Order: sequence, then C-alpha cells, then structure tokens
Amino acid sequence: MKLKRICILLLALSLPAAATAWTAELNTLERLGRHLFFDQRLSNPSGMSCAECHAPEAGWTGPKSDLNRGGAVYPGAISTRFSNRKPPSAAYATFSPVFHFRKSEKIFAGGNFWDGRATGEEIGNPAADQAKAPFINPLEHNLRDARALCDLVASAPYSPLFQQAFPSVPQPLDCRGDLSGTIDRIALAIGAFEASEELNPFTSKYDYYLRGQARLTPLEEKGLELFNGKGKCAQCHPSDAGPYSRQPLFTDFTYDNLGTPRNPQNPFYTQQRRFNLEGKKFIDPGLGGFLRTRSEYRSQAGANLGKHKVPTLRNVDLRPAPDFVKAFTHNGYFKDLKELVHFYNTRDTLPRCRGKALPGRDCWPAPEVARNLNRDEMGNLGLTDEEEEAIVAFMKTLSDGYRPER
Ligand code: HEC
Ligand code: HEC
Repeated sequence: MKLKRICILLLALSLPAAATAWTAELNTLERLGRHLFFDQRLSNPSGMSCAECHAPEAGWTGPKSDLNRGGAVYPGAISTRFSNRKPPSAAYATFSPVFHFRKSEKIFAGGNFWDGRATGEEIGNPAADQAKAPFINPLEHNLRDARALCDLVASAPYSPLFQQAFPSVPQPLDCRGDLSGTIDRIALAIGAFEASEELNPFTSKYDYYLRGQARLTPLEEKGLELFNGKGKCAQCHPSDAGPYSRQPLFTDFTYDNLGTPRNPQNPFYTQQRRFNLEGKKFIDPGLGGFLRTRSEYRSQAGANLGKHKVPTLRNVDLRPAPDFVKAFTHNGYFKDLKELVHFYNTRDTLPRCRGKALPGRDCWPAPEVARNLNRDEMGNLGLTDEEEEAIVAFMKTLSDGYRPER
C-alpha cells in the first residue's frame, strides 16, 4: 500500500518533465486534484478555494490587484483573518526537494513555504505535504478538522474519481474507516495536479528561445547576460537546468535574507492577539523560525533568522491586465520589478530612509531582520538604470503561454 502510493507519486512527479509542451491533458489523479484545487465548497464558510490565493491568471499567486497593492497578504474564509505572508506561486513548487541540510555548504535547501516548514518528510513530496495544511488553517480555509474536509469531499460531484484514481485501494474515500489514508490521498491528488503540466508547462518565451524557436529582443538578450553576470541573479535563481529539473526553474531552493523591509501595510500587524501575539512588533523570523521548532536544527536557528526560500521567477510578471499590481517577496513590500532590481543594486549604497526621503529613490527602509544579510551577491551591483531595465525586460520573458511565431 505504501509502496503503491509512492509509485503513483513518482509517476505524477515525473510527468512535467516527460510530457511535451503541446498537450495539456491531465490523468485521472491530476484531474481529481484539479477539482479539489478549485472547489470553493471546501472551506468554512464556503467560498474559499486554493485558487483564491493561487490563481492561474496571476501566475498561480494572488489574483486581487487591490490587495497586492497594499498588505499583499490574503484573507481566509473568514474575511477579517489574514495570514502573515504573501502567497508564493503554487506553480513549479513540486520540483522542490525534501527539506534538507547540506553539511558541506552548511546551508538548508528544499521544502515548501517561504520558511520551508512544509518539508515533504511526511509523504515524500513537499507540495503534497503542504496541500493538507491550508484546509484546517483558521486563517485560510478554516475547516474544523480533517473529518470536516473529508465529509465535504465525499459529497462532491467529483468524488467517484477517487476509485478511478486509486484503483488498487478498495475504499479510497472512506471518512470513517480510513480518515488519515483518505486525507493523504486528497493531498496526493492536489500534489499531482500541482506537478502537472497545467502548472508546469515550460511555455515561456525563454523556453522557446532555449529550444531555438523564439528570438529575444536585444534588450531581453542584454538582460539575460546581466542576469547571469553582473547582476548575479542566476547565483540564486539559476537560468539553466539544475539537479531538480532538466529545464531551468529560476530557484535553487535555498534560503537567504535580502534585507527586505517590513511591509507596514500588512494587516497581520493588527490581527487579534490569538493569531498574532506580538502585534505591531511582529518580525517574520523566516527559516530561523521554523528551525527553532525542530530539535535537530534548533542550534542553527539564529544563523538563519530572516532567511526566506528563493522563489521561482517563472511567471513573476504574468498578470491578467497591464495595470494589475503584483506584490513581490515574502511580505509583498515590493510592487514593481524595477524597484526590486534597484534594491538589489543599491541596498548598501543608498542611506536609510528618514523624514521625507523617498524609499526606492533616495533611500531604503531598514531590513525587517538585520541579521544574516546576504552581502556577497547583492547590495552594490553597480548597474546603470538601463541595465536594471534590461533585467526587468528579461524577467518578462518568463511568463508561460507564449505563442512562438511559426
Ligand atoms: C488565504 C490564502 C491561501 C489559500 C486559500 C491557500 N494558500 Fe497556498 N499559500 C498561501 C500563503 C500565504 C503561502 C505561504 C505561506 C508561508 O510561507 O508561510 C502559501 C504557500 C503555498 C505553497 C508553497 C509554494 C512554495 O513554493 O513554497 C503551495 C504549493 C500552496 N500554497 C498551495 C496551496 C493549495 C494546494 C491550497 C488549497 C488546498 C492553498 N495553497 C490555499 C496562501 C493561501
Ligand atoms: C542571494 C540569493 C539571491 C540573489 C543573488 C538574487 N535573489 Fe532574487 N530572491 C532571493 C530570495 C531569498 C528572495 C525572497 C526574499 C524575500 O521574500 O524576502 C528573492 C526574491 C526575488 C523576487 C520576488 C519574486 C516573488 O515571487 O516574490 C524577484 C523578482 C527576484 N528575486 C529577482 C532577482 C533578480 C532580478 C536578481 C538579480 C538582480 C536576484 N533576484 C538576485 C534570492 C536571491
């Protein structure tokens, strides 16, 4: 039984690499996962699906421009409750390896979430591990417990898909006799959908360029060169194939503290005390916060405070309309790619903001966490304004759904 499950999982995980870019047909397990992902009934009160915070038209991240413009975190099923971080893209997340410590380099890598705490240790797949969490999180889907989730799924019109997706399990959807097995299968199906070609199509202009089917403009070409060279971006967001995929993922799944400023508009600061004990003083501990919770890693928590997982840059500029605002980094402080590149370029050369000085132009606010800043690969890059523009132009070639000229 365990072995079978792992086989199904491996099959699901090997799909995006094996499938071609032209077909987007989902197998039964993926289709089941798709239903679960978009099902708005699976929350209390109903109305909240995974897609409310991870919508395809916004690159599988938050689809509400007005929220992105401000606090950038999303309310859950209870509209006054907010979690404390910006939804990262749910696409290309399944490539992340199980959370681990690399002794030789002394760094952590893998897992899902900004802080890696969806480790993948439980069912061998960080995304599937992750898929269980939002349903019973009071700040997200807000379901009472696993049983409540199971009962809702059992009454859904797509419930017969369970038998087809898990043919060898006599009763794959059994909320009384095998609740935990059923929840695992729900998570596996969502994980399979997240690993499917629909979320991982590799159809950006850059992908076609790599296959010799599209040409970059001179500006994009220059941006790519700077991205790999002077801008040092590729040192954390590799633009070529890596150990986890034959196609570039634009993340190495490691953790860093860029010195991202606090986002003062984050509504988490004013949440009820039972969700935020520290109130306005809240500081996102990132990876260090997760490490504190694990005895084997606790001693390394301090050295990893403020670090967040390197996000993929695929679809970073994908938006439903040109004036749609997207938010970037774990707390959504940045609203504009040019501004973010300028931050990488000048974090250590502009003064701290005081008085009327304009953040991003004259100064930068203090980092949310001042410890453990990365100073090797950013802070003073010496890029010109045109070079910053070129890097932005290159990032815009990473949106899926590009149609190559024939
Ligand atoms: C209310 C908004 C919200 C809902 C609903 C929601 N998520 Fe998320 N999701 C987030 C936030 C915020 C994070 C980052 C959390 C963190 O780092 O602590 C996240 C992280 C993730 C990640 C990790 C990506 C990565 O690269 O680390 C995946 C995958 C994901 N969500 C999938 C799902 C699925 C599947 C569902 C439905 C079962 C779901 N989410 C429902 C807000 C949401
Ligand atoms: C030292 C590793 C490192 C380097 C070098 C680096 N990044 Fe990042 N990047 C990160 C991390 C870590 C985050 C998330 C930081 C956070 O949430 O506070 C991030 C976030 C981003 C984001 C936001 C994505 C999102 O979905 O929110 C963009 C865009 C980005 N980087 C682009 C670049 C560009 C362009 C360069 C080169 C100028 C670059 N990065 C260099 C590690 C790096």
